[in-house]
Amino acid sequence: MLFSLDLVSKSIFFIFLWSLPFRSVADDSASSTSYRVEPTPITPQEGIPQRISVYQPYRGGNCHGYRAKDISRTDQGVTGSLELIGSPCYAYGTDYKDLLLNVTYDTEERIHVSIRDANHTQFEFSNRHDIWDAPIYHPSSSVNQFNLLYNFSFNADPFEFWITRKSDGEVLFDTRGHPLIFEDQYIELTTNMVDDYNIYGLAETIHGLRLGNNLTRTFWANDEASPLDQNMYGTHPFYLEQRYKPVDSNSNVNYNSSSEQQKKYTSASHGVLMLTANGMDVLLRPKYLQYRMIGGIIDLYVYAGSEKPQNTITQFIESIGFPQMHQYWTMGFHMCRWGYENISQIMQVRENMRKFNIPIETFWSDIDYMDSLRDFTVDPISYSQEQMIEFFHDIESTHQHYVPIVDAAVYAANPSNRSDDSYGPYYEGIEKDVFLKNPDGSLYIGEVWPGFTVFPDFTNPKVQDYWKHGIQNMSYAFGSNSSSYIPFSGLWLDMNEPSSFCVGSCGSNLVNSNPVHPPFKLPGEPDDLTLNYPEGFNLTNKTEYASASSASLSQYYATATSSMQPVYPTAVPIGQQPKHDINHPPYAINTEQGNHDLANHGVSPNATHHDGTLRYDLFNIYGYGEIKVTHKALTDLQPKVRPFILSRSTFLGSGVYSAHWLGDNHSNWPNMFFSISGMMVFNMLGVPMVGADVCGFQDNADEELCARWMAMGAFSPFYRNHNQLGSIHQEPYLWASVAESSRRAMNIRYSLLPYWYTLFRQASYDGSTLIRPLFFEFPDEPSLAGADRQFLVGDSLLVSPVLEPNTTTVNGVFPGDENTVWYDWYNHTAIEHKPYENKTMDAPLEHINVAIRGNKIIPMQQPAYTTEETRKNPFSLLVALDKQGTAYGNLYADDGVSLTPNATLWVDFSAKSNKLSSSSFGTYNDHVPLANVTILGVSSSPKQVLFNGNIVNSYTYSDSIQELIINNLNNFTSAGAFASNWTITW
Ligand SMILES: *[C@@H]1O[C@H](CO)[C@@H](O)[C@H](O)[C@H]1NC(C)=O
Ligand SMILES: *[C@@H]1O[C@H](CO)[C@@H](O)[C@H](O)[C@H]1NC(C)=O
Repeated sequence: MLFSLDLVSKSIFFIFLWSLPFRSVADDSASSTSYRVEPTPITPQEGIPQRISVYQPYRGGNCHGYRAKDISRTDQGVTGSLELIGSPCYAYGTDYKDLLLNVTYDTEERIHVSIRDANHTQFEFSNRHDIWDAPIYHPSSSVNQFNLLYNFSFNADPFEFWITRKSDGEVLFDTRGHPLIFEDQYIELTTNMVDDYNIYGLAETIHGLRLGNNLTRTFWANDEASPLDQNMYGTHPFYLEQRYKPVDSNSNVNYNSSSEQQKKYTSASHGVLMLTANGMDVLLRPKYLQYRMIGGIIDLYVYAGSEKPQNTITQFIESIGFPQMHQYWTMGFHMCRWGYENISQIMQVRENMRKFNIPIETFWSDIDYMDSLRDFTVDPISYSQEQMIEFFHDIESTHQHYVPIVDAAVYAANPSNRSDDSYGPYYEGIEKDVFLKNPDGSLYIGEVWPGFTVFPDFTNPKVQDYWKHGIQNMSYAFGSNSSSYIPFSGLWLDMNEPSSFCVGSCGSNLVNSNPVHPPFKLPGEPDDLTLNYPEGFNLTNKTEYASASSASLSQYYATATSSMQPVYPTAVPIGQQPKHDINHPPYAINTEQGNHDLANHGVSPNATHHDGTLRYDLFNIYGYGEIKVTHKALTDLQPKVRPFILSRSTFLGSGVYSAHWLGDNHSNWPNMFFSISGMMVFNMLGVPMVGADVCGFQDNADEELCARWMAMGAFSPFYRNHNQLGSIHQEPYLWASVAESSRRAMNIRYSLLPYWYTLFRQASYDGSTLIRPLFFEFPDEPSLAGADRQFLVGDSLLVSPVLEPNTTTVNGVFPGDENTVWYDWYNHTAIEHKPYENKTMDAPLEHINVAIRGNKIIPMQQPAYTTEETRKNPFSLLVALDKQGTAYGNLYADDGVSLTPNATLWVDFSAKSNKLSSSSFGTYNDHVPLANVTILGVSSSPKQVLFNGNIVNSYTYSDSIQELIINNLNNFTSAGAFASNWTITW
């Protein structure tokens, strides 16, 4: 959930936030005595205004860099020391005089350049394997330096280095001409870039796929809804660069290639990672790319890459960890809304979806289910145990699922309110001492939905048991009566940047006043606030509340207001030493919240971890820590089951443990469009289970948008419709066209589940992308470098969604050369097109254009209402022949649940010379037969069709479509479609 930056939207926010707890008495009676939510005020603080350094005069102009000394080259790399040239230049901190350089040839593809201060004073993220460990730290020891794909070169005075790819001499990273700055609160490293470069990544932000060369990317985990080009929930400081070269020429690439110029280029890509959890700006400029970090050291990794962008991505993901395999059901359709006030409403949605025959796999709960919005509790009235037990029983019988939300922050109980004594998660955390502290050792207390909150320190080893205990207790609260039975199927981790609604440890001296109502009348509220309280509310409490609000709150607001004065930190003149300051560093990164104060709407940089490490140095990895701890807790509780976690905040390697949704978007067309590049980028970052809130989270969805988005969402790895409290409902059955569009697209999605599952498996062993940019499959075509209005699902399906209103057509290209065939999904005809022609296609409201690539074989199953039921239906194969009559594909299957399946199945399909072969490896068998095979691109009617040499009588051939459909294969495959190898000839 968002919290807006400017005061105008903030006041709108107040309307719905504060309308949340106070219901009219006329509301449904089930909850009328239980609603006890009385949030603390949201403080008006925006922090101390900061002047964004990137927009201020540059302070590094007097810096001359470093001089290399004692350099030695070995088979493993280059080491040496660097010495500051001249006197300290005090750009945005205090210069270190002596640095250590350590360049290591990690693998044949990957080189690591580390630069740190000689005394190891700076925080070294790479020493903290307790927090982040990845294959990148464990390179194979058998690197043969003669096989290195790259070269490291340097100049000694001043020290500059450049990394080239040996095969083609391309310079991949090049600091020449840019002095290194290495100070306590500012590190600057710059690489020259080629003209009009194509880079991708540097997530998370909302931007088109290709980042362009006029952008400042800020890395500071931030709870903000859809801010264009600015910092958001996750941080992944990696980019892929794709370069095109004209064939047989070294002249400059012409990026405005027209279709006649196609095939005139070759291309190659490489990757660059700056491994840090510190705050940072990355400046993308026409001639260079510049890292400006406010702490830590330099840990730069360059991946030499490949002609295939996917291979470069594989090199990168291999180093951060391949993504986990998800359970089969997670591919089904998910429905969520913040504002399902009670479980009956969710049960009603379940009935309606069934009535309208729209599949639904998973019901989600936002914070509505919690008791007073507190973690690990369940509202005893509106989500009563009795009803929840019935609900779980019902959905289990229909193979459906439930996923509740958990927020990162834990409610800070009010010690003077006896009714808070029972809130175990707070007191247990205090006893185990697992919450973040202020520098003086007192508790850091911020403010989130339930009121004042504390924040688990996910780097503290003791937090593991604590968090697991919380999840276990939540399971009991939902009605489980056994430690081995967890009724929910996964956890949704929200607000885990983490978000906090006030600046700093705002609750430190006020926790006794919690909970209270804000000291002003809220929009729509009557004068007598007691009218807002439910029937039976104890008026004695009201008296307490009144005195509390008059005493401490006035004091509170006095403090808040005084710290709101727009006093900018005094900038010292250029060349003079700035003051070391953790909360307001001399270099102000361009974080987009409030007045750009680093503590705004988050947990302050000076909040302190159990070992004294400041949040300043681990800022961007909080959410990742929560993911890891939750993942372990879930595997402890259910050792055999793959955990399903959906997290808002992510860091490098999060895909190993978690899925991601693109956050609190808006119900509008631009957000639908940007979700395509969002999904592409997270696939490049090893988080393949990703998707947007379909139909949009904030604002009201309209019929046309929702119809289009439900259709496109069916081609997202993670497919969830979610919207916000106060917005109009957007369940897909509410509009006839949305219902129809959803049914059609879900029919395709569910029939493709075997294909999707195979893609997930491929992602988990080599980082293959599911939502794939066109240039990944067609890398030698410069005009595709920025293509992000169409996308590929795997390598076989091309989706061309409508991304604007009031239209019934869509434009798109069909990439490849004259030999590439694309077939229409629906009518199976070869699509007439010229290569790279921007073709206009019909796109009626309930229709999404999907094309199948010739040369591909797609495994399918007859779709049913749930993924489980679909898995029991017969298989089919869709064979899309290319012009040579060949096609390939594969299938992966296992039980869809187990962390380590005891049986798996791989099937390779190939079609060539009128023969389709299926070869199976592994023993997993669903005992589901193969019903039919459809072959596209068959140029003449077959004389006969044989299955393993036996005549098949049931087939049809269409001359006009050039399609051969072979039916009734069930009898030949009754032991299981892929229980043994087979061939079909025609
Ligand atoms: C350089 O880094 C490698 C890999 O981390 C390490 O083994 C080696 O000891 C380092 N060398 C120096 C001189 O610090
Ligand atoms: C490094 O530490 C040594 C010993 O503590 C000290 O003498 C020296 O001044 C320090 N150097 C720097 C650059 O801080």
